[in-house]
Amino acid sequence: MCGIVGYIGARQAAKIVTEGLKRLEYRGYDSFGVATMNTKVTIAKKSGRISDENLNYTDLLGSVGIGHTRWATHGVPNDRNAHPHADCTGRIAVVHNGIIENYAELRRDLIGRGHTFTSDTDTEVIAHLVEEHYSGDLCSAVAETLPLLEGSYAILVIAEGEQRIIAARKASPLVIGVGDREFICASDVTPLIDHTRRVIYLEDGDCADVTRAECLITQYGGPVKRPIEEVDWDIQDARKGGFPHYMLKEIFEQPQVFYNTLHSVREAPDAFSLLSKPGMISIVACGSSFHAGLLYKYLFESYCGMPVRVEIGSEFKYYTPPLSGPVIGITQSGETADTLAALKMAKACGCPTIAVTNVVGSSVTRIADATIYTRAGPEMSVAATKSFMAQLAAGVQIIDCLLNHSLENELERLNFRIEEALMVPVDDAVILCKDAKSIFYIGRGLFYPVALEGALKMKEISYIHAEGYAAGELKHGPFALLSPDTPVVAIATPGRTYPVMISNIKEIKARGAPVIGIGVIGDTQLPELVDIFIALPKSGEVTAIATVSVILQRLAYLTADTLGCDIDKPRNLAKSVTVE
Ligand code: F6R
Repeated sequence: MCGIVGYIGARQAAKIVTEGLKRLEYRGYDSFGVATMNTKVTIAKKSGRISDENLNYTDLLGSVGIGHTRWATHGVPNDRNAHPHADCTGRIAVVHNGIIENYAELRRDLIGRGHTFTSDTDTEVIAHLVEEHYSGDLCSAVAETLPLLEGSYAILVIAEGEQRIIAARKASPLVIGVGDREFICASDVTPLIDHTRRVIYLEDGDCADVTRAECLITQYGGPVKRPIEEVDWDIQDARKGGFPHYMLKEIFEQPQVFYNTLHSVREAPDAFSLLSKPGMISIVACGSSFHAGLLYKYLFESYCGMPVRVEIGSEFKYYTPPLSGPVIGITQSGETADTLAALKMAKACGCPTIAVTNVVGSSVTRIADATIYTRAGPEMSVAATKSFMAQLAAGVQIIDCLLNHSLENELERLNFRIEEALMVPVDDAVILCKDAKSIFYIGRGLFYPVALEGALKMKEISYIHAEGYAAGELKHGPFALLSPDTPVVAIATPGRTYPVMISNIKEIKARGAPVIGIGVIGDTQLPELVDIFIALPKSGEVTAIATVSVILQRLAYLTADTLGCDIDKPRNLAKSVTVE
């Protein structure tokens, strides 16, 4: 939540910072702002989205600059609360991602000492604290400020007359791209890959003094060395590549993503040895990653006979269940605060921890004992699609390895089945959904998490209320809501729950709700029963999880597009939820 970028080098900073912020807009888009240091610090900021604006760079001169794109936490999204924030003199500017938990107390004390505040944010206290400690050495002033801050932060600070950026992090991500006599600091690597592939991942507690010549890192006062790592994400991955939205591009990348992840997961021996021990596996995750976790539960339990519990990250921290055995944290970004907190709790309980993540160097990889990387590449759309598919690929590949490759035949061809699912028409279903007040998604077993994920996609990008249910549960309450205005998307592929799904669909039809049935080619019963039949090629169960997921993603996308919604940046959301 919130994206920050900083540049120092020989080029004009404002343009590079602005372009970088556009790449980070998925982290929040309530307001934006840039500050540059030429002879003095100049700040331009306002509410709204940076991608909708033409910034006037003639006012923002200088080759040292910082910027911010905001997801509001403290203070409404308006011009005043947009970052960067300045001290009383306007000589120091700060951008911040995270939350300063003791800001109210700090602010009261600072006001008592004569400081004037111009925003309602927690961040502004940092600017005033740096001001108090500043006597010509920005690095020392920031270093003296950091111990006073409670909470989480990734900050970039510049000051008048200082040819440097001070970058510091604690529990919020911050990376530094290393160029040729230039450095770019950012919340993640997507703003950097236009300029360099060489990246330093800062650790919690690090404070970096970044000049054109070097990046000197200290931790709690002592110098530390951090390795320069190579990023393998392609610049094309972070562009729309001719698609109208990132989400559609990312949906279409899924055959490749599935294949890439399947083949790379085999290279995680540490994780495999932790998982191959008998006993209970626990999984923690949020949102779509939680749905992937539920899929893991059904798959691990039914294919490997291993008991699995799945917990929502935000619940786990405060209601930690009795733990034994490995704990898996699934997180695309590797930065979701609740998932990180849960993994830390698991470690404190002495459990081995495994991260399943898409982002090399992300915070979760630093917490977990072992990491399994998904190979989705950068996911720019706020709604998760290809990262969910990659998480599925990682899960089934783990199972395949644990089962001596008994799924191998199905998995090797699965990417082709995803390709086919991308072409299956869903237009009639879109027409039915676009005017709906509410949509139910139902499935059983493995298709219950798929239904949950389909409903999440629909509600987050089309703003139509949608709920996923285990098909048998609909009778226990939600039936009261069924009407001709509440379509039900029913997943009824062949398998042992098919007959009971058919009975459930008949019950729903008897209450007057239209049904969109997702089944397979050659089914004779389902098409007769439902209002709209979406037919997938016949396949194994694991393949069907992937192909039905693709259909539901496309249904959500096309419905949202028909309604003219802001698909890549749905209202009120941010991709990387780094606050509790
Ligand atoms: C939904 C979505 C979110 C994320 C959730 C967890 O489309 O993207 O629900 O899945 O915020 O994020 P990660 O996986 O980064 O921990």
